[in-house]
Amino acid sequence: MATRNIITEGNPTLSKISRPVTSFDDRLAILIDDMKETLVQANGIGLAAPQVGVLRRVVVVDLGDEIIELVNPKILEQSGEQDGLEGCLSVPERFGMVKRPNFVKLEAQDRHGDWFEYEGEELIARCFCHELEHLDGHLYTERAYHMLTQEEYEDLVRQQQEEDDA
Ligand code: NI
Repeated sequence: MATRNIITEGNPTLSKISRPVTSFDDRLAILIDDMKETLVQANGIGLAAPQVGVLRRVVVVDLGDEIIELVNPKILEQSGEQDGLEGCLSVPERFGMVKRPNFVKLEAQDRHGDWFEYEGEELIARCFCHELEHLDGHLYTERAYHMLTQEEYEDLVRQQQEEDDA
């Protein structure tokens, strides 16, 4: 396993549409393992393959107790609404307010090509929506109704620091 470089906003790869995975081979397994290691090292919640420069429909999401691998994911159902802060490893040191469904059910393949369904609420649902949009060349910044100002960002960092210290 190895970590890969995360590309950032302004890199044209981030606005391209990723192709479906058709070969469930060693190359895919290496990509997924590398993405997991990259996600953990970057201390993120989710990572999509285009963020490491690979235009394939692959996403990894940290569920807390494990990292789920989603190959060719599709949203089957969504409902409710949540409103909150969102960030992205490809948009460092910025956050924005984004409305998302509160519940998302999706289907995806695993690294062997087997289909499964998975559902999540709140942060997981938000993360699924965010990561799947990367596969279609979109960043949350296009969807945010407010991007935090430098002052708001610094307040947020201070707040998080205080919570960590408490
Ligand atoms: Ni992102």
